[in-house]
Formats: sequence, C-alpha cells, structure tokens
Amino acid sequence: MDTQNIKQRFGIIGNSPLLNRAIDIASQVAPTDMSVLITGESGSGKEVFSHIIHQMSVRKHGAFIAVNCGAIPEGTIDSELFGHEKGSFTGAHEARKGYFEVANSGTIFLDEVAELPLGTQARLLRILESGEYLRVGSSKVQKTDVRIIAATNVDVYNRVKNGKFREDLYYRLNTVPLRIPALHERKEDVFLLFRKFSADFSDKYRSPGIQLEPDAVQILTNYSWPGNVRQLKNIAEQICVLEKDRNVTGQALLGYIPNETGSNLPMTINSQSKEDFTERDILYKVLFDMKKDMVELKKLVAEIIQHGGNTASVLADNPQYINQLYRDVELPAGHEHAFTIQQPNSNNSSNNDYFAQDVEEVEESLSLIDKESDLIKKALKKHKGKRKFAAQELGISERTLYRKIKELSL
Ligand SMILES: Nc1ncnc2c1ncn2[C@@H]1O[C@H](COP(=O)(O)OP(=O)(O)OP(=O)(O)O)[C@@H](O)[C@H]1O
Ligand SMILES: [Mg+2]
Repeated sequence: MDTQNIKQRFGIIGNSPLLNRAIDIASQVAPTDMSVLITGESGSGKEVFSHIIHQMSVRKHGAFIAVNCGAIPEGTIDSELFGHEKGSFTGAHEARKGYFEVANSGTIFLDEVAELPLGTQARLLRILESGEYLRVGSSKVQKTDVRIIAATNVDVYNRVKNGKFREDLYYRLNTVPLRIPALHERKEDVFLLFRKFSADFSDKYRSPGIQLEPDAVQILTNYSWPGNVRQLKNIAEQICVLEKDRNVTGQALLGYIPNETGSNLPMTINSQSKEDFTERDILYKVLFDMKKDMVELKKLVAEIIQHGGNTASVLADNPQYINQLYRDVELPAGHEHAFTIQQPNSNNSSNNDYFAQDVEEVEESLSLIDKESDLIKKALKKHKGKRKFAAQELGISERTLYRKIKELSL
C-alpha cells in the first residue's frame, strides 16, 4: 500500500516530508514483529500510528489493547497487565486475566511507557525476551505471544540516565524508533488539517462551512501548537460551534488561540467561549496567589533571620506583613485577640529554631491588635471613611474590614 492509500485508510491528513517519512517507517515495520517505540509530543498522533502498525500487521485480526501506563496506579498495574490469582492480595476475590493474556496473538499498545514502575519494567522485559510472565500471586509460568508498541512524549533515555527506566528494556523496546513530527515542524499541514476538521465538524453539527480569511490562515500557520493536532482539532470544533460569522478573520481567530507572548496563561477568550476557561482561570489565579504568599512568607522569614530572630522588630518595621498574615487567617471565636507577636529570648537564641523560640520563650509582647486598629484607622482616614478603598489598601475584604471595625469597636 502506498503512502497516499495509507493516509486515506487511516484518515491521516498532511503532506509534509516528515509525516510521509513516519508513515513509510510505520508501514515497513508493521508486518515484522518488532517492537516499536513511538515518540512525539502530546497530541501529535502517536496512538493513530499504533493503529496503523497493528492494522497492517499479520496480527490485524487479533486483539489490540491500548494501555495508558501513566493512568494506572502503581499498586494495580502488575495485576492489570499480567493478571492475578484469587486471593493474591486484599480484594482479589476472583482470579483475573491480565492484558497480556487477553491480547495473546494480538498487539498491546503501552502508552506513556516511561511511567512504568521499575518492577513492572522487569516483568515486561521478560515477556519481550521470552514471552513468559507470572500472574501476580502465582509461580506458574505462562506464555503469551504479543507484539508490543510503546509510546512516550518524554525523553525515555533521560529516564535511563536517571535510573528511572531500565536501559536493557529501553533498547529492547526501541528496536525500531518512530518519531512523529510535532505540528510546528510541519506548518504546511496546519491549514490542510484545519480545513478537514472544520468540514467534519460542520457536517457533524449541521452548521454552515467555515472559511478562513488570508490573515487568519497566516496566524493559524505560524502558531506554535503546543498541543499539536489534538489542539488544532479542538479549536476547529470550537470555531464551528461558536463562531457566528463563518468568514473567520485573523482577529476572530485570535480569540480562540492562546496568547503566545509572555506566559502560557490562557488569553482572554471571546465572550462566547469564556465558560470553557473560567475554571482554569480560577485555578491559575489560586496558584499565583499561593505563590505570591509563599514569596512574601519567605521574605518575612529571611528578614526575621537577618534580625537575629527578632520577629517583633521586623513586624514593627514592616506593618504590611501584619496585613498579609491576617488577610486569610480566620481566628477561632474568642481567640481573635490571642494573636500576639512574641519576642524570642535573646540569651537563648540559636540560629535555627526561631519559630520554636517565637512560640515558647516569651519575654515581651507587642499586641498585633493595637497595630491592626492603628492601621485600620489610618486606612479609613486616608480614604475618608470609604471602607471599600480602605479594605483594598489593607489587603482584606470589605466584609472582613467591617467585622474588624465592629470587633475593635473603632
Ligand atoms: N495526521 C493526522 N491527521 C488527522 N488527524 C490526526 C493526525 N494526527 C493526529 N490526529 C488526531 O489528533 C488527535 C490526537 O492524536 P493521538 O491521540 O494519536 O495523539 P497522541 O500523540 O497519542 O497524544 P498523547 O501524547 O496526548 O497521547 C486524534 O484525534 C487523532 O485522530
Ligand atoms: Mg496517546
């Protein structure tokens, strides 16, 4: 079968030399029984290629089982792959066949193979070398005849160097390496893929076809596509469903493509697709806030260390820390006034137990509450009694400010 036929049969779109080369290798290696290690970025088409190899092999009438090694917990992966005997571990009420038994005379696709635990790697190597394996909890050697196709989007050899992946297994799996090019390496295919996907989705959703204006084609082609074909497919689907104007301009397209300048944060998406991103936005926001807090805490700790553990003097010099400390801390009822800064006993200070000292060895104390009411008064004065702005300045919510005003009888 020539490359063109293979593309047609498996729905592969693209005409770049790198893609054609990958198809050639797949079709040449398919009829042999060699193990293949497919590498390529996430969403580049590794699984598609595993199907090509199985379907073009003599095993095509046998089973094809795809296993995502990264998704199976370490405690159960051996039993899933190799089966187990009844009673071999708590909860093993029945004996169970493993994938290697079920896929006998077929193909197993081990996706994210780099995630396999070392113990499982040893069992896998034995199957590759002799076809032999043991069910978990059994000492009876079983035989199976399975072709292994593995895939990874990380550099497995790097794992070998770090002792996380067996070198012998690496060479055994990698008998034939098959590298699937990333989408940014085959820019000429981007528009072809988009056209095909948008036509398919227009059919599926019975919506009018999508046309890209020339500037939109430019943007589409030059984007880096970190999520590769899968990402392109998702974006084509979003546009098909959401875009009212079926003639898509560059400006409209930009609303669907994450912003490449700066961080990998999702860009502001146009209003229609906003819902898809709010959850992620919130997560990012929470993570950033956490990071900010960590940085502030580190700064505070560093200052305290610099001041020989004198927390009180650091906080007195840097009242902003007091706000930050208080911002998210809801003290239990009745303990609102128990938050005091304690001066460590200087006779006793060693350099690495500031916190123990802060808590236990008190000589002199300075009430945070006093500082706090001072700051609140100042903030209210500065903002002429406008609570909203005072709260903003203090870094607390308006509700918290209101509560504190009542508590402190200001
Ligand atoms: N050349 C191609 N032509 C058409 N569709 C493709 C092509 N390559 C990949 N796809 C489609 O892109 C999507 C992602 O492909 P696939 O699942 O094979 O990627 P993957 O490399 O296994 O990703 P991951 O690393 O995340 O598991 C699938 O829907 C697949 O059908
Ligand atoms: Mg995959």
